[in-house]
Amino acid sequence: MSFRNASLRLARVAGARAAASATQKRALSAIATAARPALKQNTKIAGVRGVKTIKFNGTDEEIVYERADWPREKLLDYFKNDTMAMIGYGSQGYGQALNMRDNGLKVIIGVRKDGASWKAAIEDGWVPGETLFEVEDAIKRGTYVMNLLSDAAQSETWASIKPLITEGKTLYFSHGFSPVFKDLTHVEPPTDVDVILVAPKGSGRTVRSLFKEGRGINSSYAVWNDVSGKAHEKAQALAVAVGSGYVYQTTFEKEVNSDLYGERGCLMGGIHGMFLAQYEVLRENGHSPSEAFNETVEEATQSLYPLVGKYGMDYMYDACSTTARRGALDWYPIFKKALKPVFEDLYESVRNGSETKRSLEFNSQADYRAKLEEELVTIRNMEIWRVGREVRKLRPENN
Ligand SMILES: NC(=O)c1ccc[n+]([C@@H]2O[C@H](COP(=O)([O-])OP(=O)(O)OC[C@H]3O[C@@H](n4cnc5c(N)ncnc54)[C@H](OP(=O)(O)O)[C@@H]3O)[C@@H](O)[C@H]2O)c1
Repeated sequence: MSFRNASLRLARVAGARAAASATQKRALSAIATAARPALKQNTKIAGVRGVKTIKFNGTDEEIVYERADWPREKLLDYFKNDTMAMIGYGSQGYGQALNMRDNGLKVIIGVRKDGASWKAAIEDGWVPGETLFEVEDAIKRGTYVMNLLSDAAQSETWASIKPLITEGKTLYFSHGFSPVFKDLTHVEPPTDVDVILVAPKGSGRTVRSLFKEGRGINSSYAVWNDVSGKAHEKAQALAVAVGSGYVYQTTFEKEVNSDLYGERGCLMGGIHGMFLAQYEVLRENGHSPSEAFNETVEEATQSLYPLVGKYGMDYMYDACSTTARRGALDWYPIFKKALKPVFEDLYESVRNGSETKRSLEFNSQADYRAKLEEELVTIRNMEIWRVGREVRKLRPENN
């Protein structure tokens, strides 16, 4: 039997097993639902003049600002004299600019003429000479300069951009990368303008899709310079204008350190490494590709991780069999102990600028896209992800 047929057949068997265990999980989830109100007691959300304070077990306190604090009329009034110059129209530029436009703000785009972004902007209804300009022209016209070029491009273009950011304008970033690692990036913001940051916790595509669904992405905000005395308020308002559901405060340093660390860790690199290690050991012990994939990725992403996202880790444990639960409870501290030193090394590599240096060096090469694609092809061709393509086809919704 060919590998493909064998894997299809076994994936069907695994699918049936998954359906059976899903029934057990549903029954158990009813028990977990009953337990949920008790869990909520540890987290209080108290209203303070329309702004929320989250208290975790009565110790740490955080203020969060919500969309409800900035209704549309208030936003329009707040930004009535402003022109938001969105510099860059990649993933984030696209999502944030369209959301601001839909919110009724005056938005213009600044990108290099006839590049991929210029064409994409025209397709989205931005008009050359009216709402679409070359970078320098857009900066001159804007009161808010929203620098959403790629991080490497922010560094490359800074010498020509900086002199245009004149007194009275507000400079905006969505990542602390450029100013925090200024010794490497050479992006030193002017000292006579407000400099703020809103960092959506997701891709620009999600910033847009959640907004269109009437929902909102979670974002952090930070202030680098507060010349006007209004920088915090500007960042909170702008966070809502670009499509955030709620926003919490951070600093530029903490934003960049946590962001680079998170994406190299649990969000992308770490989880990929863990999937690969588990899959390889299953394969080395004679398990079929379908079985190894289902037990490593498919059940995680389709069944268990969504439960963690919706209700929490304890709920997910509670929704699984007693056998599964006992094993996971015994093994998570062992994984934590083994992995913590790796996370400590990773944090240090972020903090001391090594990750920034590597990223700038790699992404500034003329052929960086081709090189990246080569590495992505390697991933695409790994057995685990080839099996994934076949398994996804078997999902009933894909038939
Ligand atoms: N993507 C995310 O998930 C995410 C999430 C949160 C925050 N952020 C932050 O948001 C910012 C923008 O990220 P992004 O992912 O949206 O970037 P991106 O998709 O890589 O966008 C790149 C933009 O930069 C332009 N560009 C690239 N090189 C240029 C150059 N040498 N001169 C002029 N323009 C150039 C591109 O224009 P062309 O089409 O002409 O090349 C494009 O408009 C970054 O600070 C990033 O860290 C990103």
